[in-house]
Amino acid sequence: MRKKITIVGSGQTGATLAHWLAIRGDVDVVLYDIVEGMPQGKALDLMEAMPVIGSDAHIIGTNSWSDTANSDIVVITSGLPRKPGMSRDDLLKVNAGIVADCTRHVAALSPNSILILLTNPLDAMCHIALHVSGFPSERVFGQAGILDTARFRAFLAMETGMSVAEVNAYVLGGHGDDMVPLLGSTNIGGVPVSKLIPADRLAAIVERTRKGGGEIVSLLKTGSAFYAPSAALAQMIDAVLNDRKRILPCAVYTGANGGGYGVNDLYLGLPAVIGAAGVEKIIEVELTAEETTALQKSAAAVKELVEALRGFEPPLLP
Ligand code: 2OP
Repeated sequence: MRKKITIVGSGQTGATLAHWLAIRGDVDVVLYDIVEGMPQGKALDLMEAMPVIGSDAHIIGTNSWSDTANSDIVVITSGLPRKPGMSRDDLLKVNAGIVADCTRHVAALSPNSILILLTNPLDAMCHIALHVSGFPSERVFGQAGILDTARFRAFLAMETGMSVAEVNAYVLGGHGDDMVPLLGSTNIGGVPVSKLIPADRLAAIVERTRKGGGEIVSLLKTGSAFYAPSAALAQMIDAVLNDRKRILPCAVYTGANGGGYGVNDLYLGLPAVIGAAGVEKIIEVELTAEETTALQKSAAAVKELVEALRGFEPPLLP
């Protein structure tokens, strides 16, 4: 049976995700937004593209939550994007309310769905979705690590002129300026990256990766990146739909045992096995001492945001 995927928020990222999914042809997509006409118009435009690309995807646009009922996967993209000069964390208050409201609808109408978050500040928003939905943490996770890793891989490929397919890397930690590109294990075709790129260039690439979202925001001036974030979402969805057991860096809940990284009860970007059940396992990769310290710093930054959320009225977290 075809799977139903709801995309909450039909802005640039939501609509571009619908485009990636439509190309697959094997899913029913619901584009939801509060703006009247906009999701309907984008869905109809996509439906009219299907004969050209030969896809049997079915896409509807709606302003009515009832159309999202019984979705298998729900992606929440709603929220304000950054303006030039803003950090992702500046969005905390306004987006917290939006994510909580959307999650309430999703939990009521699609209680068995897998919930994937995109809204920033991402890791903190995952905490809200987990708490408000009451879903098990396996079914609530966030997109960020694939995007951050993709940026790092793209910059390394541009620097060396090698295919992106040969660049093996992970960027872990929170989706913020303290994210942690794992230089120790990054390689191009098996050759350690430190042997291919001088240290000062490598440091510049790490910095560019950390600020990768901001770089796009300052170029676009209105809105933030959407092609790469939505491509990352499509990869996560594909892993769930096909029970691929792919190891993908995602914002996942570490739980009581810290996921092996010594950070308890926190959403953080870590490599995880993604399959039909959602987050099936957190994978422990070997970190250098420096990377461990950087990951702890990144986790502390996420914790600070989560603590800030606890002070909100009405309360969004316990
Ligand atoms: C980014 O990094 C929007 O957070 C997203 O581009």
